[in-house]
Amino acid sequence: MTNQRTSKLAGALGQLAEHLQWLRDEGVAAVAADPKLVQALGRRVPTAGHAAAGAGRKAGDQPRARAAASPAAPAADAPELEAARAALADVAKRVAVCRQCPLGRARSRTVPGQGHPHPAIMFVGEGPGEEEDRQGLAFVGAAGQLLSRQILRMGLTRAEVFIGNIVKCRPPGNRPPLPDEMAACLPYLREQIAILKPKVIVCLGGTAVKGLLGVTTGITRLRGQWHSCAGVDVMPTYHPSYLLRGGGEDKARWWEVWNDLVAVLARIGRPPPPR
Ligand code: URA
Repeated sequence: MTNQRTSKLAGALGQLAEHLQWLRDEGVAAVAADPKLVQALGRRVPTAGHAAAGAGRKAGDQPRARAAASPAAPAADAPELEAARAALADVAKRVAVCRQCPLGRARSRTVPGQGHPHPAIMFVGEGPGEEEDRQGLAFVGAAGQLLSRQILRMGLTRAEVFIGNIVKCRPPGNRPPLPDEMAACLPYLREQIAILKPKVIVCLGGTAVKGLLGVTTGITRLRGQWHSCAGVDVMPTYHPSYLLRGGGEDKARWWEVWNDLVAVLARIGRPPPPR
């Protein structure tokens, strides 16, 4: 299999795993799957096997603790991971009925964020767009596809990190969230950070920086420098939508983001992938 096909397959499996996790958090206990397909996936893509943890699990089985074997997530045993998952699901449940700001009235679905319950890296964006509002999952539109590619280039999968946003409901017309909307939603994000205990938070774009660090300095000046939030190292970088808007011509910005992500890998003790 070519590298390109392998990384496409890994990306698709990461999204499938997220979706299965989301179904599980919504209370869906089982999904139908062709046993031959499950067997083939387990044989051919062993690294993605952990991603669908919980899918196909029999009653009474303990979830597999993959984190201890991987430096992509701090060591955590199975009960600890289960507890973190349950706590995240509890936040998501409260978000699902939240009406604390006007965004709650216009949304189709809430987008609490998804991923590993104890990741080394948490990505925080601005807020759901149209596709995210439709699916209830963070970063699944065009910007999300770019983020997926960046994560894969870092040598990780989406299921090994956590991906969330400053606000959990879509602002109309994809405008940036207003200060009151951010203030109403931030307690949920703070709770998630306390549960996830990431080593590093990557702030994607100016809104994420404003929300998490409370500063209004432009992202161009802040990116590439380490900051701190609630005891967690924070690396601000450009939002994937910003890169997409600039097209492929502005290679300098793409490289700046890549250098920021390489610094993140160094901070969590993972070697940078070859250029
Ligand atoms: N999708 C998200 O989930 N967040 C963003 O900030 C942009 C797109």
